[in-house]
Amino acid sequence: MDAIDVIRAKRDGGTLTPEQIDWTIDAYTRGVMADEQMAALAMAILLNGMTRAEVARWTEAMIRSGERMDWSGLDRPTTDKHSTGGVGDKITLPLAPLVAACGAAVPQLSGRGLGHTGGTLDKLESIPGWRASLSPEEMLAVLTDVGAVVCAAGSGLAPADRRLYALRDVTGTVESIPLIASSIMSKKIAEGTGALVLDVKVGSGAFMKTVDQARELAETMVGIGTDHGVRTVALLTAMDRPLGRAVGNAVEVAESVEVLAGGGPSDVVELTVTLAREMLAAAGLASAKDPADALADGSAMDVWRRMISAQGGDPDAPLPTAKETHDVPAPASGVLTRLDAYAVGVAAWRLGAGRARKEDPVSAAAGVLCHAKPGDRVTAGRPLLTLHTDDPSRIDRALEALDGAIEVVPDGAPDLLPLVIDRV
Ligand code: URA
Repeated sequence: MDAIDVIRAKRDGGTLTPEQIDWTIDAYTRGVMADEQMAALAMAILLNGMTRAEVARWTEAMIRSGERMDWSGLDRPTTDKHSTGGVGDKITLPLAPLVAACGAAVPQLSGRGLGHTGGTLDKLESIPGWRASLSPEEMLAVLTDVGAVVCAAGSGLAPADRRLYALRDVTGTVESIPLIASSIMSKKIAEGTGALVLDVKVGSGAFMKTVDQARELAETMVGIGTDHGVRTVALLTAMDRPLGRAVGNAVEVAESVEVLAGGGPSDVVELTVTLAREMLAAAGLASAKDPADALADGSAMDVWRRMISAQGGDPDAPLPTAKETHDVPAPASGVLTRLDAYAVGVAAWRLGAGRARKEDPVSAAAGVLCHAKPGDRVTAGRPLLTLHTDDPSRIDRALEALDGAIEVVPDGAPDLLPLVIDRV
């Protein structure tokens, strides 16, 4: 087989054969197919799409490029959640211990932030001592003792995706539904979870800007999971405004701890409880303890503390705080009708919370705190946002990102997506 024949077939709108797909993923993983050839093929896929059978085979080949984890020895069912990424999306932090407190095991392999969306591992690393890298044996030990583990995927898991995702990132080929779906699902299936809830974000701060695109992605991923024997459901949820009030790393950990303590912003609490119920139902534990009770009685907080300690973190240590803060005042008095998720995400990124390249460091203390949410009344001149950074020279660029992101009207209601838009 030859890379050029495969590229030409997809370039001309054809359907790749199972043999062509298997050969491509194997050749790319072994370095026989060059990056420029894979980049050309990824662009042809982005432009011409893939059939359901092609996506299924492509995912299967990516899973087979590496190891597959196995949790069948655990005494409780496994269930996991994956979010397609957004601004202020810290849900994994309260969710994993909450679901464990209700009786399931949560083996969550998470990622780091890239661009304007944050990464769960970057957030957790703001806790002094917490370590993201665990061996498979350590992961099993934490899962057995605590019931939830959140850590980095080892290099042996779907290595084809690791290379391909880095290549797509620099060749303008991230935004392809077949490539996103197969990338996410190959990692989640290789992770070995028995059930999976997908949180597909919609809006300016998400990959998918429209409900129709998000539904197509959700249906593609649910199809792949189901075909691989993983009980998979998807929720389409709002990402037109930031989730919660905190956007960044340590600030999002602090907000997650508030939720685990029974408080926190109502949208974060509602989404956490909704996703927890879905995860438990998918794991066959619908009649287990209700997640709202596990937040109220402190059992989810107990699991959080044990989960953080098991990975070297000190759950009582003060979180890093920024050297510099800068208030952004409300431009007028009235109702806040727009606080654009993408703009707030870019502002937090420019303050140092995110990275532009994979190898860049992130600042634990950087981020944005939102003092009002769309629908709230605000007063002209009073702080609407507070920017946090260790490097004051970053503030001007963050303010530029917020240009046009805020709208206040004398009276009226914001036109927002419902928090949970649909279920697939
Ligand atoms: N997240 C992934 O893991 N892969 C993609 O392609 C996009 C988001």
